[in-house]
Amino acid sequence: MTQRIREFLRNRREDGPCMVLDLEVVRDNYMKFASALPDTRVFYAVKANPAPEVLHMLATLGSCFDTASVQEIEMALAAGATADRISFGNTIKKERDIARALALGVRLFAVDCQAEVDKIARAASAADIDDAKVFCRVLCDGAGAEWPLSRKFGCDPQMAPDVLEHAYRQGLEAYGVSFHVGSQQGNTEAWDSALAMAADVFRACGERGIILSMVNLGGGFPTKYLKDVPAVEAYGNSIFNALRRHFGNRIPETIIEPGRGMVGNAGLIETEVVLVSKKSEADEVRWVYLDIGKFGGLAETMDESIRYPIRSERDHEGEKAPCILAGPTCDSADVLYEKQPYMLPVSIEIGDKLLIEGAGAYTTTYSAVAFNGFPPLKSYVI
Ligand SMILES: Cc1ncc(COP(=O)(O)O)c(C=O)c1O
Repeated sequence: MTQRIREFLRNRREDGPCMVLDLEVVRDNYMKFASALPDTRVFYAVKANPAPEVLHMLATLGSCFDTASVQEIEMALAAGATADRISFGNTIKKERDIARALALGVRLFAVDCQAEVDKIARAASAADIDDAKVFCRVLCDGAGAEWPLSRKFGCDPQMAPDVLEHAYRQGLEAYGVSFHVGSQQGNTEAWDSALAMAADVFRACGERGIILSMVNLGGGFPTKYLKDVPAVEAYGNSIFNALRRHFGNRIPETIIEPGRGMVGNAGLIETEVVLVSKKSEADEVRWVYLDIGKFGGLAETMDESIRYPIRSERDHEGEKAPCILAGPTCDSADVLYEKQPYMLPVSIEIGDKLLIEGAGAYTTTYSAVAFNGFPPLKSYVI
C-alpha cells in the first residue's frame, strides 16, 4: 500500500467497499514498460481499468490503447488519445460497431477468421476508407498463466495466412499477427513459442507475396499477488532474444498490450467483515463473509485463479487459522476461496476492515450494477 492510499483511506467517509488506485504507481509501471521494451509501442488494454484519470495520464505519457468496444474507443478518445493510437483489439465485433470505429478514425482491427475480415472490408468499403489494417490473432495455449485466455480467441496458426490473404484480397492491409500468452504469465519465456508461430505466419504470407509488418505481443505481464513475479526487464530481455531468434535481423514492428501489469499493483480494495461463523460446533474452518465478492469486483477469484494478498490490522496479533472467504450475495457461487482456504488471524471480528492488494486491474469493471441491490464497486483514483 502506498503512503498516498493509506492517507486517503484514513480520511475517507465510510461508504462500503471501494477500490483506491494510485496514479503514481501507474506512471512508474508505464515508464518500466517503455524502458524494458524501448522499440515496442505500448497499447494499454483499457479493459483492465478504464478510469478516465488512468487513460488521461497514459495518453499524456504517449501510450496507445487496445480497446474491446466502441465505448472503450470513446473513452480513450475522451482521455486525449488520437484515433491513430487506438486499436479495436476484440476479435468479436458487430459490423455496425466496426463502422462506428472507422467513422471515429480507428484503422487497426484484430481478426481471427475470414467472416470477421468480411465485416471490416464491407464497413470500410461502405465508408470509402482504403487504409484499414488487420492483424490476425493466433491461438496460444496459455501454459504458465494464472488466467489463461486460450481457445476462445485466435485461430490455428496454419489458418492465419489464409485469413490474412483474404484480408489482402478484400483491399485491407494485412498488417501482422497477434497472440496473448495468457494473463498473469509467470514464465518469461512464454513468448518464445508464440513468436516462432508468428515467424512461420510471416514466412507463409511472404511466400504468397504478402509482406506483414507487425507482431502484437499481447498482454500477460504479471502483477504481484501472493507470489513474487519476475521484473518487466526480464520479460523485455526474453522477448527481445526470442525476436532475434525467430526473425533474425528482420525484426518486425512490435506492440504490447499490458493491462494487469500496468494497473494491478496500483490499486487496493478496502472491504469490511460482515460475518464470521461456523457451520457446526466441530467445524475447524471458519466462514468469513466480506462486503465484496465475485459480483462486487472479485470475479477473478473464479476457480480460485487469482489469489489476492489480504491484509488485516490484526496480522501482528499472532496466530492465523484457515478461513473460507465468501462474498455477501445470496448466490452460492459467491465464494472466493474454499478449495484452498485463506489464512487469516484467529482474532478477526465482524466489522474489521481488510485490505485486498493488487486490485487495480479487472475489479471495478467486473462488478455488477445491482446484484442483490449492492451498488457497483466504488473507484477512487488519486
Ligand atoms: C486482446 C487483449 N490484449 C491485452 C489484454 C490484457 O492482458 P493482461 O491484463 O494480461 O496484460 C487482454 C486481456 O484480456 C486482451 O484480451
